[in-house]
Amino acid sequence: MLADLLKESKHTIVYTGAGMSTESGLPDFRSAKTGMWEMEDPAKVASVDALNQQFEQFFQFYKQRVLAAKEAGPHEGHRILSKWEEQGLISGIITQNVDGFHTMAGSENVMELHGTLREVHCESCGKVYGNERYEQDEFYCECGGKLRPSVVLFGEMLPEEAFLQSVFESEKADLFIVLGSSLTVSPANQFPMLAKENGAKLVIINMEPTSMDYLADLVINERKIGEVLREADRELS
Ligand code: APR
Repeated sequence: MLADLLKESKHTIVYTGAGMSTESGLPDFRSAKTGMWEMEDPAKVASVDALNQQFEQFFQFYKQRVLAAKEAGPHEGHRILSKWEEQGLISGIITQNVDGFHTMAGSENVMELHGTLREVHCESCGKVYGNERYEQDEFYCECGGKLRPSVVLFGEMLPEEAFLQSVFESEKADLFIVLGSSLTVSPANQFPMLAKENGAKLVIINMEPTSMDYLADLVINERKIGEVLREADRELS
């Protein structure tokens, strides 16, 4: 059914969450036992307060995530999405992920709603560096300001360009496919609803049920994203 929906659709947008990268070896946030927020309190390591008041914990947490993302890389599911964009089957990817794996796999129209771990920038002067500064335990800018990853921290606004582009693409979509998100964090979780309200068919592929499954035309639970994408790709080729 997924392959048929892709073939019929004129403007398909894929929307990914951390469940898209678990098969690359990166933990997601809310899966029982393995999710990152099972081990850490996001308020203490991933918020503006943490950056300002507990900088030691903050940069150790993000240094680990920078190292983990460098160890890992895109899996076959990322490469299938990149191929489908080339073939005109999908028009773009809205992602909450900051690992950069969609771009590394060759996808072009990628909207990074929550920024990227691949760069850090100075909290004071804004100067941008590669994230190897974090690997080398260099946490301060030449100007003396703190370096922080270019990700959206809890309590921060989403990047305007990615946000507006995501609104445009969600309104235009006639098929909107969610891959690996619990759809619990706003405003990122508004896009499936926005697409649905503008006439798109909504597909949610997620190991566990989500609070938006009632809106979907097709829900696939208890299946790994990689397997589902491989199966659909075989039907399409
Ligand atoms: N196949 C299918 N589903 C999977 C897989 C997989 N291989 N691995 C995990 N999942 C599902 C989990 O069941 C879970 O419901 O992916 C979902 C991931 O949900 P979260 O961990 O909440 O991740 P996400 O929705 O991306 O979180 C949104 O929260 O902490 C913030 O900024 C962070 O971008 C993140 C945002």
